[in-house]
Amino acid sequence: RAYTITLIPGDGIGQEVVPAAERLLRETGLPLEMHYAEAGWDTFQKVGKSVPDETLERVKASDATLAGAFTSPSGSQKVPGFQGAIRYLRRTLDLFANLRPTKSRPIPGSMKNVDMLMVRENTQGLYVEQERRYGDVAIADCVITKGASERIAKVALKEAQRRRRKLAVIHKANVLPLTTGLFLETALEAAKAFPEVETYDIIVDAAAMKLVRDPQSFDVLVTTNLFGDILSDLMAGLVGGLGLAPSANIGERTAIFEPVHGSAPDIAGKGVANPAATFLTAAMMLDYLGEAATAKRIDRAVDTVLEEGPRTADLGGKADTEEFTDAVIEAFRSL
Ligand code: NAI
Ligand code: MG
Repeated sequence: RAYTITLIPGDGIGQEVVPAAERLLRETGLPLEMHYAEAGWDTFQKVGKSVPDETLERVKASDATLAGAFTSPSGSQKVPGFQGAIRYLRRTLDLFANLRPTKSRPIPGSMKNVDMLMVRENTQGLYVEQERRYGDVAIADCVITKGASERIAKVALKEAQRRRRKLAVIHKANVLPLTTGLFLETALEAAKAFPEVETYDIIVDAAAMKLVRDPQSFDVLVTTNLFGDILSDLMAGLVGGLGLAPSANIGERTAIFEPVHGSAPDIAGKGVANPAATFLTAAMMLDYLGEAATAKRIDRAVDTVLEEGPRTADLGGKADTEEFTDAVIEAFRSL
């Protein structure tokens, strides 16, 4: 049976990196039935919805989705009726686990011997987006439930089992014992069923310092939504930055894979975006579908080109998106 894949390029450079990944995916020879769908800011401006129902239905019916990037207007003013596409999809499809692997890459800016995985709770915490403003006072709700903490801890523990069997539970229970304390307590409880995984806890600020000074000591990390968002960008920065960072949003029934970077309006439309993050994201998607060997081969092909060149401009090279893609496809064929 073929795998059904939805491709959502979205906004900005998403329109460039997703078609590049489609070329690479076709090269794998796997039975992939790929369909394009629309979502994002441009879609919102056209049809008044960032995720049209048709797209939602396609994603729901797919084995997996590969998304590019989605623009959100920034600033304190809300755009009436607008909801960020990826946050809407995460919530509607209950994609509760955000997985962000960080691995050393053969480029000058990357630290060596780093290989870790952030498992971020993707539905709760401060990202329930319940903010209120009373004149000069603003208040945000932070929601933590035992159920959501338990299911994310289990995902992290299972990932740790497949890897080096170490799990850091990251929290701030010393200051926020009720919310992040509940998360910590639940994760440690869940860990009892995984005695072969060495589970330990670490306070988020200490974790930030340790990630910078000794990232090699980490294997799997699990934490609440906001901490995970911030720390995983820090982690990406250790190994060469956003142009190389993949991610997954995983639920019980389907999953959406997306590079960590945004729509990069400063370079969009020029054909110079680095598609490497999206290639590594496509590899994560294949791994999720059970095609681990092909996933590894894509990862190795990307590393080969990062090492030998040509590189894209964000990594100091001169290659455009197409030249880099050609080189990765060539490397993939010869592996
Ligand atoms: P960004 O990631 O789009 O860009 C930051 C910087 O990195 C820019 O200079 C950009 O040119 C560069 N960059 C990013 N990806 C690159 C790539 N693949 N190749 C080469 N250079 C790359 O973040 P920014 O500028 O903060 O946000 C721009 C828009 O993207 C905003 O509307 C924001 O809301 C959205 N965004 C969406 C995300 C998503 O879809 N998950 C994540 C982050 C931002
Ligand atoms: Mg982020």
